[in-house]
Amino acid sequence: MILYKQISALKAFISQNKQEGNSIGFVPTMGALHNGHISLISNCKSQNQITVCSIFVNPSQFNDPKDFEKYPVTLEKDIDMLEKNGCDVLFLPSVNEIYPNGFSNPPHYDLGYLETVLEGQYRPGHFQGVCQVVHRLLDIVQPHNLYLGQKDYQQCMVIKKLVELTKMEVQVVINPTLREADGLAMSSRNMRLSEKERQQAVRISETLLFIQQHIKPGFTGDLKQRAVQYLTAEGFKVDYVEIATAASLEIIDSWDGNTPLVALAAAYLNEVRLIDNMLLN
Ligand code: PAF
Repeated sequence: MILYKQISALKAFISQNKQEGNSIGFVPTMGALHNGHISLISNCKSQNQITVCSIFVNPSQFNDPKDFEKYPVTLEKDIDMLEKNGCDVLFLPSVNEIYPNGFSNPPHYDLGYLETVLEGQYRPGHFQGVCQVVHRLLDIVQPHNLYLGQKDYQQCMVIKKLVELTKMEVQVVINPTLREADGLAMSSRNMRLSEKERQQAVRISETLLFIQQHIKPGFTGDLKQRAVQYLTAEGFKVDYVEIATAASLEIIDSWDGNTPLVALAAAYLNEVRLIDNMLLN
């Protein structure tokens, strides 16, 4: 695996490979890698000649400074995992390299409705930061294909919108969420859970599964209410449990029995905020 810290050197490598007719696949990450990331790398490898992974903990997408400070960093282990799984290139830029002009006057992305609900509502500014860094990374890497995990369902939609807004020529490929044996969605933030919290954390995926198994045409508000009550009783501070249309993330309280739906949840276990989602039908 080749490690690049400088944009200029990475760009030279990419343009050389493009000239040779190689397709470039890109997996952006914030490190603290787990098997969910590795499944993105594997999928990327199977569909491209060159797989580029970036590790960059992007300050501009953290609306909570404490969350940024405590974001897990496991660089040596990450490099080892990427090497073992055949990643071709790791891009490991500094904050200066990504934001040479600092953080004043950031661009604004018109994300419309997507930025007003769920993660957009509970993490103000978060998706602007995600767009800022992904736009910058895509500009640098210029990949043919971009690989994202469904675990961040709304982020996938936001990044598709970013690609549309900026007219970048990149295919967005969404990979299914990888889960632990008990159902907990794999996440870098799971590393911050104590043993007790780790046991409790599985209740989120259980709740989404319950919604999936019990959703019926008609009023759906009672299911959401039961889900929130259950998670609260299990020790979570719940930001939301919502049922929304899978295509546009419109929150619904009544289902026609046909429209594809997704259930999404975000909740704190003490300091650690966990999110998950499940397609319902
Ligand atoms: O999902 C993530 O890890 C981050 O939001 C991303 C897409 C790498 C941008 O920093």
